[in-house]
Amino acid sequence: MAILQGKTAIVTGAGSGMGKAIAHLFAQQGANVTMADINDEAAKTAAHAAGDHHVQAVQADVADVSGVEDLVAQTVAAYGGLDIVVNCAGVPQSFTSVEELTVEQWDVMMNVNAKSIFLTAKYAVPFMKRQKSGSIVNIASIAGIRARPGLHAYCASKGAAIMLTKALALELASEQIRVNAINPGPANTPMIEKFLGEDETEKEEGIKTIFQESVPLGRLIEPEDIAQGALYLASDLSKNVTGEILNIDGGRGI
Ligand SMILES: NC(=O)c1ccc[n+]([C@@H]2O[C@H](COP(=O)([O-])OP(=O)(O)OC[C@H]3O[C@@H](n4cnc5c(N)ncnc54)[C@H](O)[C@@H]3O)[C@@H](O)[C@H]2O)c1
Repeated sequence: MAILQGKTAIVTGAGSGMGKAIAHLFAQQGANVTMADINDEAAKTAAHAAGDHHVQAVQADVADVSGVEDLVAQTVAAYGGLDIVVNCAGVPQSFTSVEELTVEQWDVMMNVNAKSIFLTAKYAVPFMKRQKSGSIVNIASIAGIRARPGLHAYCASKGAAIMLTKALALELASEQIRVNAINPGPANTPMIEKFLGEDETEKEEGIKTIFQESVPLGRLIEPEDIAQGALYLASDLSKNVTGEILNIDGGRGI
């Protein structure tokens, strides 16, 4: 039997990169999946690419309170429940000195990368409590435990995601709701070049020298690597795992 047969999941940031790979793997494993993204077109295209599986695309800004409340409501209305939330939507910081970063940029990073986890929990947990089961998987980053200069806001937002994961895991354990996180290392998705400047040659060189060479295994992480980890943490395969932060990073976090 498929690993997620009969389960319903929300995957945010599902229009691209890791979120898309996670949503597709969950759907192949029998789940009903709401593929949420702020980019409506990307969410629809990614949902279409899931083929015959049970998926729906929903446009949602994970930093917006009513948008998240609506996302949960639309999922429950379509599929009759909610078992899994994967918080994958995120925004990068292109290397910026602390004096250059604007207050608005700081707020966007904290709101999309960290506050969103609070918001999805706020609206999803009541459904999970009612059924006394649930799994929340937060895609944080190795940058949440290993700092880099010029990435202060991104690092701080991912550090917040990691600590929120642990605090929620403890708070919700008695309800059989598990909360775990994945720390991807530098990954082969459209986001990676956004950490770098605008110059194309510098981007290519930067991906190699800054990111790829910082990974002991010597290669970028693929979205499918993250999807396999998310499947483990979302499913009963990890039924006794909560508050865990799984580095899928080629050894970058060592
Ligand atoms: N790519 C990397 O090197 C890397 C490394 C570590 C962690 N991460 C994290 O992994 C996650 C997935 O990143 P990715 O590499 O697949 O990036 P990506 O850019 O390919 O995908 C991110 C998706 O999030 C969506 N999004 C952005 N803001 C949103 C919002 N407010 N509401 C809803 N959706 C929104 C985007 O539209 C996009 O489709 C992110 O949280 C990212 O911070 C990425």
